Amino acid sequence: MIDFKEKVAGALAGKIEGLSREEIGQLIELPPSPEMGDFAFPCFRLAKTMRKAPGLIAKELAESLGGEEGQSLFERIESKGGYVNFFILRTALTAEVLSQIQEQKEGFGRSREGEGKKIIVEFSSPNIAKPFHIGHIRSTVIGNAIYKLYDFLGYDTIRINHLGDYGTQFGKMIVAYRRWGSREEVEKAPIKTLLGLYVKFHEEAEKEPSLEDEAREVFKKLEEGSPEEQKLWQWFREESLKEFQRVYEMLDISFDSYAGESFYSDKMDRVTDMLKEKGLLQASQGAEIVDLSQWGMSPALIRKKDGSTLYITRDIAAAIYRKEHYDFDKCIYVVAAQQNLHFQQWFKIIELMGFDWAKDCVHVNFGLVSMEEGTMSTRKGKVIFLEDVLNRAVEKTEEIIREKNVVKENIEEISKQVGIGAVIFQELSNNRIKDYVFSWDKVLNFEGETGPYVQYTHARACSVLKKAGVDYAAGQKLSGEVDMSYITGEAAYQLTKLLYRFPEVIGEAAAKYEPSVLTRHIVDIAQAFNKFYHDEQILSERAEEQKAKLLLTDGVRQVLKNGLGLLGMKAPESM
Ligand code: ARG
Repeated sequence: MIDFKEKVAGALAGKIEGLSREEIGQLIELPPSPEMGDFAFPCFRLAKTMRKAPGLIAKELAESLGGEEGQSLFERIESKGGYVNFFILRTALTAEVLSQIQEQKEGFGRSREGEGKKIIVEFSSPNIAKPFHIGHIRSTVIGNAIYKLYDFLGYDTIRINHLGDYGTQFGKMIVAYRRWGSREEVEKAPIKTLLGLYVKFHEEAEKEPSLEDEAREVFKKLEEGSPEEQKLWQWFREESLKEFQRVYEMLDISFDSYAGESFYSDKMDRVTDMLKEKGLLQASQGAEIVDLSQWGMSPALIRKKDGSTLYITRDIAAAIYRKEHYDFDKCIYVVAAQQNLHFQQWFKIIELMGFDWAKDCVHVNFGLVSMEEGTMSTRKGKVIFLEDVLNRAVEKTEEIIREKNVVKENIEEISKQVGIGAVIFQELSNNRIKDYVFSWDKVLNFEGETGPYVQYTHARACSVLKKAGVDYAAGQKLSGEVDMSYITGEAAYQLTKLLYRFPEVIGEAAAKYEPSVLTRHIVDIAQAFNKFYHDEQILSERAEEQKAKLLLTDGVRQVLKNGLGLLGMKAPESM
């Protein structure tokens, strides 16, 4: 696609002494309001070297540019204050964007930025035998969107689910199961039953502290490969995975690898050996630690005094394994901000081990989600299950859709797409680091800045096109002679500019690991389209005019669909 900003830089280059074309490009801004044009070049920095007032420099630049090359590309070039404001020839920008969308369709927004580069996105990573609760949704949904963004940008992308399928809690679970559990109950409702046992363990352990020692002992056996413990653990894992799988299916999410913590259990000695070799491991009260006080962090416990390893040891082993196995260019960990210290610690440790790729490990953190109904605690068994939330979203959506009575067919399928989409969208609406409260009213509001609103706008565009007989589903291309001057009015042009920025926004969202950048952009597009829809008659008696407006409408449909898809949402055609 034509890079109009680059064209502006090109026009300015050669007119300004002492600034390279690249530097000029970096200075160019997007003006805050349409009267100031499409791009603005600030002259304040030049005042010193040119010994002139910025206003005068801007005026002279605007005058000298007005004549030549500019003519075919700019409607006008004006100075205002210390800025040179560039107004792109609207028909040129519109023709370019809309024809590119027709050309690239579902590929619009793709790039080759990632060619030849490998990125691991580790996300979701729930804990076996524990509920897949509403807190896990953040990692799952944010991680999936980040994966899709990078994939779209051409990176070779690998999704890893680092299951929490190891650790002392399995000692507890096994002890509890042996004392109070039954096979039938576990088979009937695995996670709820195992969770119940886990809760009971903690209650009982308060009265009978020796239970904790027993659990540690059992975990030790598990780590040493004792068949009986292994069998139980394996069974807990399988039953739990079945439940997780149901949620992933609802969300339409899959993984390339489920190598969780247990996968690294035989790779742990190597880590401790390496740490020893580098002189990083210290004995401390029988345990082994890495001292990080020099970096203002508490020591990292690598091996307990009974010889068992820890969460952090497994993370170090996993990182080394991934580098050796995948040779990644970047390894992204989508994990709650509560674990900031954990990641800082072990990132530092691998750096100290001499791995220069430590810098390629990125912790993409996020804030807490709480329910209006109250907070959660796994130990006390107060949990809101993600699956229940998704089911409820679908039910509530179906009620709303039936009430609206617009959709006549496929109501169930559409309710699923909208209900689950609403939960996903809500997750991705704010900067990920912000804590937020999950509110049903907000999530399912068809008029707010929500998933249903964007999906509804997409369906509206589809319905306009259908009415006009455009067979977009069959990939009908709207090309040929179109008179763009019909879609250069303010509402149409501001909308088109948002479509134009879509590829750039995808790049920005990926670079910042911030899907909300894209979420906000498609809300802007939806709002701009609805304004256009209300301000102007799309289906017109004048064939030429209608043709141009349908081209824009189809552009909106395509971009919204691509955007929703990148967030992990479906785009129903009616709702
Ligand atoms: N299973 C952990 C939890 O639920 C998250 C795992 C995060 N990933 C990692 N490599 N440490 O808290």
